Amino acid sequence: MMNYEDILRANGGICETPAYVFDLDILRDRIASVKKKLSGNVILCYAMKANPFLVAPLCEVVEKFEVCSPGEFRICEKAKLNMNKVVLSGVYKSKEDIQYVMYAYGGQPTYTIESFEQYRLLKGCARKEKIQISALIRLSSKNQFGVDKKVLEQILKDTDNDSHVRIKGLQFYSGTQKRNFNQILSEIHSLDAYYIELKKNFGIHFEELEYGPGLYTSYFNNEDEQDEIVLDEFAKALGEINFQGKIVLEMGRIIAACCGLYMASIVDIKETEEAKYCIVDGGIHQVNYYGQTMAMRTPDIEQFPKRPDEKFRYNICGSLCTVSDILAKQFPLSGAKIGDILIFKKAGAYSVTEGISLFLSRDLPNVYFYSEKEGLRKVRSAQPTDIMNSVIYD
Ligand SMILES: Cc1ncc(COP(=O)(O)O)c(C=O)c1O
Repeated sequence: MMNYEDILRANGGICETPAYVFDLDILRDRIASVKKKLSGNVILCYAMKANPFLVAPLCEVVEKFEVCSPGEFRICEKAKLNMNKVVLSGVYKSKEDIQYVMYAYGGQPTYTIESFEQYRLLKGCARKEKIQISALIRLSSKNQFGVDKKVLEQILKDTDNDSHVRIKGLQFYSGTQKRNFNQILSEIHSLDAYYIELKKNFGIHFEELEYGPGLYTSYFNNEDEQDEIVLDEFAKALGEINFQGKIVLEMGRIIAACCGLYMASIVDIKETEEAKYCIVDGGIHQVNYYGQTMAMRTPDIEQFPKRPDEKFRYNICGSLCTVSDILAKQFPLSGAKIGDILIFKKAGAYSVTEGISLFLSRDLPNVYFYSEKEGLRKVRSAQPTDIMNSVIYD
C-alpha cells in the first residue's frame, strides 16, 4: 500500500506541484501480476501512447512496445529499447520515417500494415534496403484503421511472391474502456475463426495474433471494481481458443493507470452563494479520467496533510479559463487550506498524453518517478508551453 506522505516528502524535499508521480514499484508489481494470470504463449505489448514516460522503466519487463509515431519512436531510441521489441504501428507511416527505421534498424521491428498503399510503401522500402521485414496486417474494426478482409486477402496473395515482407499474423484493436466483456469474447472468437478460415482457404499458418482488448479500468468512487475478475476471465478465454501460436496483447490503460498519481496544490479557497470552491494549480488539461465528463463522476482523491477537522464539501477546480475545468464536485475536505496537496489516484494512463495541455499556455507539470529504493526522482521539470503557442522570433 502506497504511503503518500513518504512519497511527497521523499528525499527530504516536497514534490513540486502540479506533478505526476509514477510509482515504479507499483508498475512492476502490476506487470508481474498480469503476467502471472496469462499462459505461456501470451506476451505483453505496452501501448506506449498510454504513458510514454514508462517506456524506460518497462524496457526489461515487457516483451513488446506498440509505437505509433516518429515522436514515440524517438522516445524508444532514447530509452535504448531493443528494437526487436518495437511494433511500428499507427495508421500512417511516412516514406521518410519508414526509410529511417529500416536503414537504422533493418528488420528488427515488426511493422503493421494499415492499407494496401501502406503495404506497397513498406514493401518498396524493404526491397530498397535489401531486407526482409516481419509484418502484421491490421484488420479493420469498421473504422479508418486497418483493412477489410477483401484487401487483407489481396495483401496475403501478394506477399506470397515477395521475399521482402513476411506476414506473421493479424493485429486487431477496436477501442478502449470496454464495459461489455462479451464484446471482447466475441472479438477473440471471430479472430480465431478467421485464422482457421485463412488456413483452410490459403494454407496460411500464422504464428502470431496481436490483439488489444481495451480492458476496463475502474476510476470512480462507487464503481464496482471488476478489473481483476475481468482480467482472470479474459486470460481464461484466451486459453480456450483454437489458435496455439503466440498471442501478443496490446495494452495501455490496464498497465499504466494504477501506477500514476497526479498532485495539485490548493492555491485559492472561496465561497459564493452557490458553493465552496478550491482552486488548484493544475486542472483538466493535465489529468484525464475516461468517462468523467464535467466531473459527473468522482475519482479517488486524497488530501495531504490529513486533518482531523470537520469536513466541508468543495468543488475542486483547476486554473483554466473554462467553466468545465472541474476536477471534482462537492468533494469533502477537512479544514482545507491553501498549500494543501490533493492527490488524484490512478492517473498513470492517458493523463500525460491526452490532456489539452497547451490550452492557456500553462506549464506542463513536473514528472517524478518514485520507488521505495530510490525515493522520489524528478525526471522532467515543469516545461513552459508559451514557446509552442507563439511565433518564434529569431
Ligand atoms: C492500436 C492500439 N492498441 C492498443 C491500445 C491501448 O488501449 P488500452 O489503453 O485500452 O489498453 C490503443 C489505444 O488507443 C490502440 O490504439
